Amino acid sequence: AALAGTTAFAQSYPTQPITIVVPFAAGGPTDTVTRLVARAMSEDLGQNIVVENVGGAGGTLGAARVAQAEANGYTLLLHHIGMATAETLYRELPYSATEDFEYVGLVTEVPMVFVGRSDLEQNSLEEVIEWAKTEGEAVLYANAGIGAASHLCGLLFMNAIDTQLTPIPYQGTGPAVTDLMGGQVDLMCDQTTNTTTQIRDGSIKAFAVTVPERLDSLPDLPTTAEGGLPEFGVSIWHGLYAPSGTDEAIVARLSEALQVALADPTVIERFADLGTSPSSAEDATSEALEAKVRSEIDLWRPIIEAAGVYAN
Ligand code: MLT
Repeated sequence: AALAGTTAFAQSYPTQPITIVVPFAAGGPTDTVTRLVARAMSEDLGQNIVVENVGGAGGTLGAARVAQAEANGYTLLLHHIGMATAETLYRELPYSATEDFEYVGLVTEVPMVFVGRSDLEQNSLEEVIEWAKTEGEAVLYANAGIGAASHLCGLLFMNAIDTQLTPIPYQGTGPAVTDLMGGQVDLMCDQTTNTTTQIRDGSIKAFAVTVPERLDSLPDLPTTAEGGLPEFGVSIWHGLYAPSGTDEAIVARLSEALQVALADPTVIERFADLGTSPSSAEDATSEALEAKVRSEIDLWRPIIEAAGVYAN
């Protein structure tokens, strides 16, 4: 009887608005991606989707909130690579990325860019590296806390140039980029979804993109390899999750709505303008996201352990 009950429930799903928790501040890259996808998903599901920003502790507060939420398909999480890196960065994480969630699917993969305040004298990544090595901890680099993409990129950068800078943590890179525009911080490595507009209008300065090929959206921007860091590379993937125990039929319905949303011409166009593209229909599946989370935990663990940085 219990099984018949859940199936009937799944068939009528969704009958009320759905909340997607973004584990970073409003106005930032995860928020931007989520709002674009949520609008298209809500059309397919015939229900409103509310985006709730639960920032703090590098995305782990918002993820913990969803891990503990009722597994009824009405509270979801949209999170990025931090889902995998936090597994090593946090010795005491209040949830498990592999045990406390159902996987809906991959959403997108986003390049990062090294950016600085607009009045920096440096005009290339080589010059930024030279300056950072000379000034060291006098250089303020903004990030969104331990577990954030901006934190990971900063960590890889400091390792690559063998220099410690001073991290300034925010609840998300939305507020961080505002401070970078205001000149309160010097440098940041952030996703193109949060920096492309500001780079184009000159309110921040861009030095390099962290993927092997230049971007169509910012064609003049060199890659990190061109800028003197041949080994450097990082790209940020996002996934959609439900709390573990969510009915399989509900998760399947959400994967379907995600696939429809990612094929929406407005989503594709907006993503392209922000230097990214939606995941394919094969990747916007439970299996693909689970495989990604597991492989990325294994990929980043030795790198983070070698760096010896932990949040707790
Ligand atoms: C955000 O949405 O604020 C970002 O994804 C933060 C980050 O991970 O750097």
